[in-house]
Amino acid sequence: MSKAIVTGAAGFIGSTLAEKLLEQGHEVVGIDAFLPNYCAFQKNDNWNHLHEWDGFTGVVGDLVQLDLDRIVAGTDVIFHQAALPGVRDSWGKSFPAYLHHNVLATQVLLHLAVKYRVKEFVYASSSSVYGQQSTLPLQEKMCPSPFSPYGVTKLAGEHLVRAYHDNYGLATTSLRYFTVYGPRQRRDMAIYRFIDAMAHGREVKVYGDGNQTRDFTFVEDVVRANIAAWQALADGGSGRRTNGEVFNVGSGTSVSVRELLERLGQVIGCSPTITRTPAAAGDVRATLADVESIKTALGWQATTPLQEGLAAQYRWYQQTRPLP
Ligand SMILES: NC(=O)c1ccc[n+]([C@@H]2O[C@H](COP(=O)([O-])OP(=O)(O)OC[C@H]3O[C@@H](n4cnc5c(N)ncnc54)[C@H](O)[C@@H]3O)[C@@H](O)[C@H]2O)c1
Repeated sequence: MSKAIVTGAAGFIGSTLAEKLLEQGHEVVGIDAFLPNYCAFQKNDNWNHLHEWDGFTGVVGDLVQLDLDRIVAGTDVIFHQAALPGVRDSWGKSFPAYLHHNVLATQVLLHLAVKYRVKEFVYASSSSVYGQQSTLPLQEKMCPSPFSPYGVTKLAGEHLVRAYHDNYGLATTSLRYFTVYGPRQRRDMAIYRFIDAMAHGREVKVYGDGNQTRDFTFVEDVVRANIAAWQALADGGSGRRTNGEVFNVGSGTSVSVRELLERLGQVIGCSPTITRTPAAAGDVRATLADVESIKTALGWQATTPLQEGLAAQYRWYQQTRPLP
């Protein structure tokens, strides 16, 4: 049994990961500042579930401001999921908040991880670091070129992780998630908004022409990737021993937003009425992960077909927000 810290543990991915670690018998300290980036109801619900486990300790506060020394001391592994996510809101006056939560908070945590000799550090990065690339699939060796301020901060986080690895020998892995979906998905994200609109018979608002494509990754697959990355840092797990590397975490397939809506229509049993709004600044045209590297190194690949994952998200939606 290990002691793990999961930052952002009240959030979508952090809470799902924390729950899996608890199920596996690990002790988990979850840290979250409860940022108001979407409804408090969802985060409280995620957080309350975690408190059902004896092995869970919750710490509420901002990573930059908390006194973390006693919390980090004695920790085996940190899964750093906390961030202010979302591409479209990261412009203008919001940027200082993105810098604070995505860059400063990451540096504070890395510093403490070195100080207290944390054995492994897994960082939640993002496909947004790639920006608009002229060729697909997106490969880790491509030169990152973020297309949004959010992407810039996630890439800065990756560079900080590498700097602490290179200078201090901290064992690290950065995982570039490709659009994550599934139960507990953030309510500002497309699939949640689409389901909510379709379930209520409202029009579905689509940015741009709907032909933009995305590699969608089911949340439980992302959780498995985190655990595989940790094991590969510790002893090689079911792949090879890794250290200081960056991996894509994607399904290796992509669909257009239009096709996604068709698939959701099949799951929900209705056909969506679409309204188009101008493409949003920061949204890239296409994402598609090259997953060869993570397959070879970590022995990981996504296993949840899109239709199955969408059905799971819809079932969760119905349970948490019963229709009138
Ligand atoms: N959801 C996706 O599709 C996606 C894609 C790529 C990368 N990511 C990354 O995955 C991670 C988790 O994303 P998510 O979708 O679960 O987001 P989320 O907003 O649901 O969860 C992030 C949590 O971090 C907390 N947090 C933020 N700053 C904090 C701070 N300074 N101190 C303490 N807590 C803080 C927030 O309150 C929030 O609950 C993020 O790092 C995000 O950048 C997500």
